[in-house]
Amino acid sequence: AIERRVNDLLKQMTLEEKIGQLVQYNDSGYQSATSPTQIAANPEANNNVNSMDLASSGRLGSMLNTVGAERTNAFQHAAVDKSRLHIPLLFGADIIHGYRTIYPQPIGLAATFDPDLVQSLARMSAEESTTAGIRWFYSPMVDISRDARWGRTTEGAGEDPYLGAAMARAYVLGYQGTSLSNPDSVAACVKHFAAYGAAEAGREYNTTDMSEIRLRQIYLPPYKAAIDAGAATVMSAFNALNGTPATANRFLMQNILRDEWGFNGLVVSDYTAVMELVNHGIALDAATATRKALLAGVDIDMMSHFYDTKLPELISSGQVPMSVVDESVRRVLRVKFALGLFEHPYARGTEVTAAVPEHRPLVRKAAEESLVLLKNDSAGQSQSVLPFSTDARKIALIGPLADNPGEMMGSWSGGPQLADVVTIRSALDARAKQYGGSVTYAKGTEITGTSEDGFAEAVHAAEQADVAVLALGESGAMSGEAGSRAYLDLPGNQEKLLEAVAATNKPIVLLVFSGRPLVLDWAAQHVTAIIEVWFPGTEAGSAIADVLYGDVSPSGKLPMSFPRAVGQEPLYYNQFPTGRPPFHADLTKPPGPDSRFVSRYIDVPNDALFPFGFGLSYTKFSYGKVALSRPTVPLREANRESAKKVITATATVTNRGNRTATEIAQCYVRNLGASVEQPIRSLQGFSRITLKPGESKEVTFDLGFPELSFYNAESNAVIEPTHYTVWIGGSSLSSDEADFNVTP
Ligand code: IFM
Repeated sequence: AIERRVNDLLKQMTLEEKIGQLVQYNDSGYQSATSPTQIAANPEANNNVNSMDLASSGRLGSMLNTVGAERTNAFQHAAVDKSRLHIPLLFGADIIHGYRTIYPQPIGLAATFDPDLVQSLARMSAEESTTAGIRWFYSPMVDISRDARWGRTTEGAGEDPYLGAAMARAYVLGYQGTSLSNPDSVAACVKHFAAYGAAEAGREYNTTDMSEIRLRQIYLPPYKAAIDAGAATVMSAFNALNGTPATANRFLMQNILRDEWGFNGLVVSDYTAVMELVNHGIALDAATATRKALLAGVDIDMMSHFYDTKLPELISSGQVPMSVVDESVRRVLRVKFALGLFEHPYARGTEVTAAVPEHRPLVRKAAEESLVLLKNDSAGQSQSVLPFSTDARKIALIGPLADNPGEMMGSWSGGPQLADVVTIRSALDARAKQYGGSVTYAKGTEITGTSEDGFAEAVHAAEQADVAVLALGESGAMSGEAGSRAYLDLPGNQEKLLEAVAATNKPIVLLVFSGRPLVLDWAAQHVTAIIEVWFPGTEAGSAIADVLYGDVSPSGKLPMSFPRAVGQEPLYYNQFPTGRPPFHADLTKPPGPDSRFVSRYIDVPNDALFPFGFGLSYTKFSYGKVALSRPTVPLREANRESAKKVITATATVTNRGNRTATEIAQCYVRNLGASVEQPIRSLQGFSRITLKPGESKEVTFDLGFPELSFYNAESNAVIEPTHYTVWIGGSSLSSDEADFNVTP
């Protein structure tokens, strides 16, 4: 039925109206081109446009950053009531971790290894934002990021394709709900297609270059998972891939996305990415950039002002066939019909303008699950410093993030009201009072501070206290778009502050705020306990207090490797082997002093300070032996795409401590003897299990073609007769293993 409606409408459209559907403007009007080359390429690109006039004359298809129901409704009235064909607008926004009730950044959610939770959160944010008329999220960002210098690591699920795919699927299912046509569903936009996370040197907007095997095996799986889950739209990336900018890359957008994966939704460019083809040097003028982007498969031009100014002449001169324009318009209309925008174009219900009280428990749970306990020593006492006992303890709360509602969110947080945010200070104050204790707060320094004027007060507070809690780290703006960093230390003089407080010899709990792995080498050696808290969102303080006081045992695991030094980047656990391996028998051993001519640094070990999949708990979990359902698998059984379960791996997990806690059991696989080399380990399954003290449970992982196959030199997914090792444990360094062969 949708196809018929699309074609009926298309038949009635003028060329100007068709092009209008392919144009997207920012609500703040058109901002000038970004460089003199771009302005020279298209002088019109520097003119302001009046989006409201465009909407009422049917020359605008979608908008970004239109804020609030009143505003989206005003635009929608212009389009629906005044334009000749009454085609509704589609309003898009970068809502990546909540609309008004904010949950952790996607990197923090990845640490939960809890796709069901992510799906519920995504649903919640769709419900909130549709009350303001937003029906399109530029999310999920599913770019694999192995380089912590890249600021956008905060927006994705980290370094691993298996975890990335699970998270990608969860966001799409949550946003789009049971049916896209429900008024509280939003269209997902999977971005940035493709391989943007591999931007060289972690520098934003930079180029990428990689083999097709790496592209398919490591970078593409999360996009594919999102498309398989029904994602309605895709955003083309800023980067070039192997010499062709993604926004003009037909191999990506036609061959892979549409032909191989069967995607029939729309592709929108990233912001001014069509215009940027000029800077990439593959288009000397705006017309060529327009032609290349459209013919490669970009349907909507976000903010370049190129499609509307250049397509008419390209069509009349025959350089762009009308059929290509028609197809792009069809894709846009298809999404609008699927969303039910023609039936209910306006913001639904009562607009959500502040955090929703009923949504707070869910975002609090998400924040709790996202926290990763990296260290928990006893500082000479009989017990680990965490959790705090509930006696009348005096806490010194120190640092620029301890009482800072604006910085609990991280990047792309347009909507939250600061008054809604629970700060660490307010949460700890309340909790300490409840137990007859106290909190003394001292800021110490600013996030990027250089002055040490506040150090003395902070040190004094620590001296008077039983324990010092330091809330240190990045501001939200230090990661996210254009947030690349060449240093990964605690910013400003925060590490100096930490050293000054540590000199008091009081037990220290360090809370690290960041959108990426930081270098925590000094802290790991000198501080009693460390928790990576990412950017936890509206319920930041409550969740942190819950974990500090032990109402909740931390369960998060790292979705990215934390380096010892920035020079190790890009750093990731699923590396390819080398002919001169740096390790002895397994991954955990450092090279011996005589092993110079191996793949290693001479000044720092190769391995991560805190590896992928790692995270401590307030209890101890032990793993029994890995058992496989059979010792061999015949190739003909395994080497079929439909083979979902050819062998099963199981292990028993036991809670050896004295409190109930959740563990994330992880299953890793290595394939030896294949025609092309394979990573030294790859995550192929995980399971969240909650165990009471002394309780044991068996975890089971079914391994089939998706888990055991790899891409051969011809870029085909295959299984070959080879040897496999399977590990089950609590991190990427787990050592319990079992082996099986795929027999010819
Ligand atoms: O969605 C974003 C994208 O991720 C980066 N550039 C701007 C877009 C729209 O805001």
